[in-house]
Amino acid sequence: MCGIVGYTGGASAGPILLEGLKRLEYRGYDSAGIAVQESGVIHASKASGHLQHLCEKTHDGADLPGLCGIGHTRWATHGAPTETNAHPHVSDDGKFAVVHNGIIENYAQLREELTQRGFVFHSETDTEVVVHLLDYYYKGDLKAAVMKTVARLDGSFALGVVCADHPGELIAVKSASPLILGLGVGENFFASDVTALVSHTRNVIYLEDGEFASLTSEGITVFDCAGREVSKSISRVVWDVEAAEKGGYEHFMLKEIMEQPRALKATIEPRVREGEIVLDGVELTRQQLQGIRRVVITACGSAYHAGCVGSYIMEELCRIPVEAEVASELRYRNPLIGEDTLVIVISQSGETADTIAALRECKARGARTLAIVNVVGSTVAKLADDVLYTWAGPEIAVATTKGYTTQVAVLSLLSVYMARELGRIDEDRYRALVNGICSLPERCQRAIDLNTHVQYLAKRYHNNSSLFFIGRNLDYAACLEASLKLKEISYIHSEAYAAGELKHGTIALIDEGRLVISLCCYEALFDKLVSNVKEVKARGAKVLAVAQEGNRRIFAEADDVLFAPHMDPLLIPVTEIVPLQLFAYYVAKENGCDIDKPKNLAKSVTVE
Ligand code: M6R
Repeated sequence: MCGIVGYTGGASAGPILLEGLKRLEYRGYDSAGIAVQESGVIHASKASGHLQHLCEKTHDGADLPGLCGIGHTRWATHGAPTETNAHPHVSDDGKFAVVHNGIIENYAQLREELTQRGFVFHSETDTEVVVHLLDYYYKGDLKAAVMKTVARLDGSFALGVVCADHPGELIAVKSASPLILGLGVGENFFASDVTALVSHTRNVIYLEDGEFASLTSEGITVFDCAGREVSKSISRVVWDVEAAEKGGYEHFMLKEIMEQPRALKATIEPRVREGEIVLDGVELTRQQLQGIRRVVITACGSAYHAGCVGSYIMEELCRIPVEAEVASELRYRNPLIGEDTLVIVISQSGETADTIAALRECKARGARTLAIVNVVGSTVAKLADDVLYTWAGPEIAVATTKGYTTQVAVLSLLSVYMARELGRIDEDRYRALVNGICSLPERCQRAIDLNTHVQYLAKRYHNNSSLFFIGRNLDYAACLEASLKLKEISYIHSEAYAAGELKHGTIALIDEGRLVISLCCYEALFDKLVSNVKEVKARGAKVLAVAQEGNRRIFAEADDVLFAPHMDPLLIPVTEIVPLQLFAYYVAKENGCDIDKPKNLAKSVTVE
């Protein structure tokens, strides 16, 4: 979704802002703009479409002189992706320019009020009310105008502001939308995520909701909503700039698929010490765990799919009820969640609006909350009682890969840990599962080594316009993710189906040549799955099976087979998804799709 950058220092701001916006392109956008302040004047330039249009229009930023400015990539919500609706929005007297992420929920009411006061609106955006409010409240005191403006806004917003009367000063405001401050030497920055900062600095300050900051080249001062100065600690980002670049791969998605063994190792290794699972960041005592009657896992998209996998593993091992539910449903459902419920919230970005809302709702109902998050300092990480980070490094491709597999790895660690604390598994089972989890990085590499065969199958099947993924138990949970991967980057319609459910209606869609991808790694149900494979084959379907290495029986049933490395049945989803991520990638490539930036999608869905 929208991206924000800000710069103040001794260098020309224009090129630095454009470079920052380039690093935020992956979030998804449809127009862009920058505003640079120089000797009491604000110069702004905007363009719809690709960022390259803005670069060409401004000669890579050189046309906008000045050492301090703000930039924005917009993912249209209120109004079409036109140049007029693009940010920054500039006040009519030219004094203020504003960039905004999020949604101002009471904008219609504010727009009416401001119109009555004589302000003229030029765009359809909710953001424009902010610039007029600043104009209205500004009487020479910038901080006071910002506070009065912010007090009028409902909704989620991160704002970047420059004022022509305050050379070299940037204002950054955070309320339920991500914004991070970067500390340089003789220069300071802000951005909606660290990938736009790491080429300049790794020293960052995470703003809390309700806080705002004044940045100059000399320093940063943070205030609370009442205008009192707040002392903030400086955090060090562990990601380096290479981690956020393609490193020779054609797409970030392929790079991130290939990085999975390393990401899994970084996520698992520090948590297994001398054969024992150690969960730093989780303060749940054994007694508290024993008091938990039910676990609810909530998240969106692929993170929800990871939660579905986790629900099978955790319920099987811990013998307590575990349900996964999409956050956008849970938040509006008056759910039966209380003090005896453990709520596990999963999010790569930690900034997904529905996930944050569901987390808040569950906390308000007294649940113990545990977050599985990739981005340090994100909103989900800050809100939850306990946090388990996935150490996947920055994930840039919109289609998550290493984010998902590391989430499943953490859920596996947590499930085995809880099962042992609750006395539900014996020592032998515990050791076998811990060893299995520790082998995931190497097994994942073996799955990646199927690359060439997957490319061949993608060439063979990329022309299908609609297909099915079927499986049972954990294979079914993996189908959900495999199907989403394919449709989001290749735009091919696919459905994930619990194999046993096919004949209750959907089998009507199986016809001559229809591709059915059958996940049959969960060997306890292999025979059942084979019956479903026979059903679809009898109706003319082509079957591509994903089976565990060494399973010879599958050759008699399927037209093509992909083998996933042999694993403990409960750990299969991490390795069986890898060839299917590659399959989605190569199908999309065959079909000439924009793999890293699929149409209509944003990396982090920060609005409802
Ligand atoms: O950042 P999150 O994990 O909270 O994001 C949730 C979903 O938006 C995300 O998993 C989405 O479904 C993926 N981009 C799909 O690949």
